[in-house]
Amino acid sequence: MPVPGPGYSITVRVEAPSSATAAGDLTSAVGRVGGVLTAFDVVESHTDAIVVDISANVLSADHAQDITEALDAMDGVKVRKISDRTFLIHLGGKIEVSPKVALRNRDDLSRAYTPGVARVCQAIAANPDDARRLTIKRNTVAVVTDGSAVLGLGNIGPAAALPVMEGKAALFKKFAGVDAWPVCLDTQDTEEIIRTVKALAPVYAGINLEDIAAPRCFEIEARLRELLDIPVFHDDQHGTAIVVVAALRNALRVVGKSIEDCKIVVSGTGAAGSAIIRLLLRKNPGDIVAADIDGIVHSGRGNLDDNLRSIAERTNKHNVTGTLHEALAGADVFIGVSAPNLFGAEQVATMNSDAVVFALANPDPEVDPLEAQRHAAVVATGRSDYPNQINNVLAFPGVFRGLLDAQARHIDDEMLLAAADAIADVVDGGRLNASFIVPSVFDNAVAPAVAEAVKQTAVKDTGARS
Ligand SMILES: NC(=O)c1ccc[n+]([C@@H]2O[C@H](COP(=O)([O-])OP(=O)(O)OC[C@H]3O[C@@H](n4cnc5c(N)ncnc54)[C@H](O)[C@@H]3O)[C@@H](O)[C@H]2O)c1
Repeated sequence: MPVPGPGYSITVRVEAPSSATAAGDLTSAVGRVGGVLTAFDVVESHTDAIVVDISANVLSADHAQDITEALDAMDGVKVRKISDRTFLIHLGGKIEVSPKVALRNRDDLSRAYTPGVARVCQAIAANPDDARRLTIKRNTVAVVTDGSAVLGLGNIGPAAALPVMEGKAALFKKFAGVDAWPVCLDTQDTEEIIRTVKALAPVYAGINLEDIAAPRCFEIEARLRELLDIPVFHDDQHGTAIVVVAALRNALRVVGKSIEDCKIVVSGTGAAGSAIIRLLLRKNPGDIVAADIDGIVHSGRGNLDDNLRSIAERTNKHNVTGTLHEALAGADVFIGVSAPNLFGAEQVATMNSDAVVFALANPDPEVDPLEAQRHAAVVATGRSDYPNQINNVLAFPGVFRGLLDAQARHIDDEMLLAAADAIADVVDGGRLNASFIVPSVFDNAVAPAVAEAVKQTAVKDTGARS
């Protein structure tokens, strides 16, 4: 049964009699209709009445309505207004630009702007590398989307994608001090996206592609990597792959298996699944069997596009065919980045003993995690209300911090694997168990460890500046 979480949280302002039982009566009324009370603040107090703000987590708009009606129905209680706290924190956006230099007088202006700035422009014109030294470029990343695959919402377009991109930029700053800016493009044409990102690249030291639908995202990333001299990283692909590889390393430590001996089933060959498969192949797994909406991917299957053909060529050693359920039999690991409710406990029971199940479809996983736990030794999801949340926030801030610090001009698999190892290593042997295979996203050790690992690898790989 779903439980109300902070993603949908309301504050109801009510007038109530100032009786000794008023607070208890109000909070009980919220609880009786399933609201999770998070705060109770008295905002006005009179001899015969109080005005209070009651904050609660709810499930939906209908549920919020139930709570309001329950309060309004109480004797002497009047609801004054209801605020949606999620909308409140979005008013006017979540990020801003603020100057780093004082602009107090004419002298300051003359240095920060004209005429002084002209000499800085000339220096960069003479030596373009100076842009990293003398402008925001060194610490700035573009978060680029076309709004075509936003969260689980699908193709909602660039303006509707902006709250997600702002959130991403806020996370970049909070976790790694990176200045990221949303770039929501009003086009879903591959060539136009490539051309536009190339044209705006001079301002940025990295490009984070976000929520661009597969298979278009593969070509856009590959072409931009060829065209640009800054790293291009599609977080839905590689951020996910990094955290999955980190989590799998620790899950296999828990169950005492080696990846070389494991049969891994990956459900979903879109943005996330394809990148997970490619990075896992670098770890030399026993075998990977991929499945998508049309069943197991094998070289004899019709209608394989370039991406699926390349997956078919590099996985499925025994060229098995059939359904996801058939693939699961005898598997050691399941990784799902596909669709909700694809199987139940009975299919998990057909996996090998000490099975590892990562059911990451959001918000509803491929298998109910509680059902999976009946037969699997380690279970992870993409959700924050279960243990072992596979969350890209563990990866992307530190990855870009490392790339920017190394002044890296590209990103490669070695850097992704270094990031994965750094995340896995944050969970030391003393803390590792079946419910703790990845660190908390609020663990302050994660981003610096990832940044250092990526930076060292970038410097080693490319001779980028340390
Ligand atoms: N950190 C995380 O937990 C995390 C990260 C990335 C993606 N995800 C989740 O993974 C899912 C996929 O994301 P994506 O960006 O790769 O999407 P995508 O649209 O690029 O790919 C979806 C894939 O799932 C397959 N699929 C769809 N329905 C299926 C079915 N009924 N049976 C088997 N396969 C099916 C499709 O064929 C496709 O290969 C989403 O639910 C997303 O929220 C979670």
